[in-house]
Amino acid sequence: MAQLWGGRFTKETDKLVYNFNASISFDQKFYKQDIKGSMAHVTMLADSGILTMEEKDTILKGLQSILDDVEAGTLIITDEYEDIHSFVEAVLTERVGDAGKKLHTGRSRNDQVALDMKLYTRDEIEEIQDLIINLLKALHEIMKQNLETYMPGFTHLQKAQPVTVAHHVGAYMEMFKRDYDRLCDIYDRMNYCPLGAGALAGTTYPLNRNQTAELLGFYGPTLNSMDSVSDRDYLIELLSALSTVMMHLSRFSEEIIIWNSNEYQFVEIDDAYSTGSSIMPQKKNPDIAELVRGKTARVYAALNNILVAMKGIPLAYNKDMQEDKELTFDAIDTVKGCLALFTGMISTMTFKKDRMEASAKGGFTNATDAADYLVNHGVPFRDAHGIVGQLVLYCIDKNIALDDMSLEEFQAISPVFQEDIYEAISLGTCVSKRNTIGAPGMDAMKQVIEINENFLKEIDH
Ligand code: ARG
Repeated sequence: MAQLWGGRFTKETDKLVYNFNASISFDQKFYKQDIKGSMAHVTMLADSGILTMEEKDTILKGLQSILDDVEAGTLIITDEYEDIHSFVEAVLTERVGDAGKKLHTGRSRNDQVALDMKLYTRDEIEEIQDLIINLLKALHEIMKQNLETYMPGFTHLQKAQPVTVAHHVGAYMEMFKRDYDRLCDIYDRMNYCPLGAGALAGTTYPLNRNQTAELLGFYGPTLNSMDSVSDRDYLIELLSALSTVMMHLSRFSEEIIIWNSNEYQFVEIDDAYSTGSSIMPQKKNPDIAELVRGKTARVYAALNNILVAMKGIPLAYNKDMQEDKELTFDAIDTVKGCLALFTGMISTMTFKKDRMEASAKGGFTNATDAADYLVNHGVPFRDAHGIVGQLVLYCIDKNIALDDMSLEEFQAISPVFQEDIYEAISLGTCVSKRNTIGAPGMDAMKQVIEINENFLKEIDH
């Protein structure tokens, strides 16, 4: 049991208390950020005349050796220490002697942990954004290749009007573009450095907070020391944004599960992304999509956890806030895993164009267009709606599509119909006539694809 604060105590901490209090099992995840933060702190202390240059060099060398050894696996982080901060300081002092004991000058673990968590979160936001970019690229490819792949568009999970695969996938493209932007916003808002806030009230040392902020890539220092050590808003925002990413992945997964079902057969998930059954030899299951849908719950749970944990905490730091970590780490790892696997799954998935087109033809998805045809020939829309309703009833009775009716059959219901009705209600026409921006028509879609192309160029670094 190695602690930083034994001085005022006369007894050893109870072992159970020690274990309950310790965070090293999970906060070792940001050892790199902890060491980098300390390096900036020490550099600033020396430049401000609080440590000598010699002490700085000794400490920096020691910190670098710890970082190298942990990365190489030759220095193992053990639960003999209370937290990652104690571990680094203890090993440093072991390695460089008394200079190591000066590392914590003008700092508290409260501003240190606030810094570490921010640094960690910032790095992870960038990784998640890279994964979203990969997903956006995969969606963009699918869109480009499926401008004329017809499928039914649904409302109430009932066939409604024909769209294309490009258009349907394009809806998700918009969602994930917003997800990407949301992460940019969060990054910009959180990117201020809490180091120098001390335990809650700053320090009496002449710290140069601008310098540490700059060394660590922040826009500047935070402006209130009590807020600095107790702000976890950025985690709440992040978990909310990640919950939204998962909600989008989960909706898309749900659709893929439906499309991949025996009844639909709109898509076939690649063998590499499917799993079998231990008993039913014929089965090929969409487990990845189901798991993405399922794991959405744990990301929501992390958001709920931190919202509830924070709601009654008086200023400034309280130990409750240690509970910000485990579920946040889990949520971040979950989202990263889901994004990577989902991207792999959709990039290898086959769209069964014939099945989709036949389904679009079979469900009276062109009924609105038949009504529009009548309107264009002078029939009031409400009457046209009624006439096409009769056509649909007739077809259901005969088990045929509108396109299969003879001109005589059309005219028996309304004499307005002429030979050009077939062209007017063909799938191609139904889709290609919808050409206002945002609609599935080819010209409209091409404009959107170009906008997306530029968006991808801008964000891909
Ligand atoms: N492990 C603690 C945390 O994660 C570090 C801060 C400890 N500060 C304190 N005053 N006990 O929040």
